[in-house]
Amino acid sequence: MNIAVRRASEADAEVVSLLNADVQSLHASAVPERFKPLGPDTFPATAARRLLANPSNLVFIAELDSEPAGYAYAEVVHLPESPLRHAWDEVHLHHISVRPAYRRKGVASVLLDSVRAAADEIGISLVTLQVWSFNEGAQAFFRRQGFTPYIARLWNRQLNPHSNQHCPEIMPTAQER
Ligand SMILES: CC(C)(COP(=O)(O)OP(=O)(O)OC[C@H]1O[C@@H](n2cnc3c(N)ncnc32)[C@H](O)[C@@H]1OP(=O)(O)O)[C@@H](O)C(=O)NCCC(=O)NCCS
Repeated sequence: MNIAVRRASEADAEVVSLLNADVQSLHASAVPERFKPLGPDTFPATAARRLLANPSNLVFIAELDSEPAGYAYAEVVHLPESPLRHAWDEVHLHHISVRPAYRRKGVASVLLDSVRAAADEIGISLVTLQVWSFNEGAQAFFRRQGFTPYIARLWNRQLNPHSNQHCPEIMPTAQER
């Protein structure tokens, strides 16, 4: 099995748009109030082309036996100094997704290696990302890749704006009430 990774160009907009569908539908089914269901307007090729045209973005496509198997999209971010914070640079991984049929074959690992190598080339050693709490598979992958949590985002999510009922996954325990 041969995994080949290459830097994507604007000519790959259609492929990147198609490869995005798996992660978009995963997010849309888990967090429907945030993520749009798959449709002609969810990350169409025109949006992918804009992303590919931006020189701050690092986008890689993995092909397995010459078939598109997954992609990674990361952004080079230069955070300026502020009165409170030092300046720093990071490469932030926005998307990584592998077609279901090609998972657990090392495709995402090779994509992440390419992102890290591109970051190294421009002298950036910090790679960051966000992962949803529901997404245990992705969390296991990132842990295996050496990522560790460094910040937590919390919400007090209601089932609907007119309900006082919390979503089941964040219902307080008897001790917390
Ligand atoms: C997460 C994802 C990108 C991993 O891609 P992948 O190509 O299957 O990952 P790899 O084959 O390189 O995995 C390397 C190692 O990571 C760990 N790992 C990967 N996926 C895992 C999973 N679902 N559960 C537990 N461990 C996992 C394993 O240790 C694996 O090694 P092993 O197969 O020898 O046990 C893929 O499952 C995916 O596309 N998921 C849907 C999209 C998504 O969640 N993206 C991340 C959004 S933040």
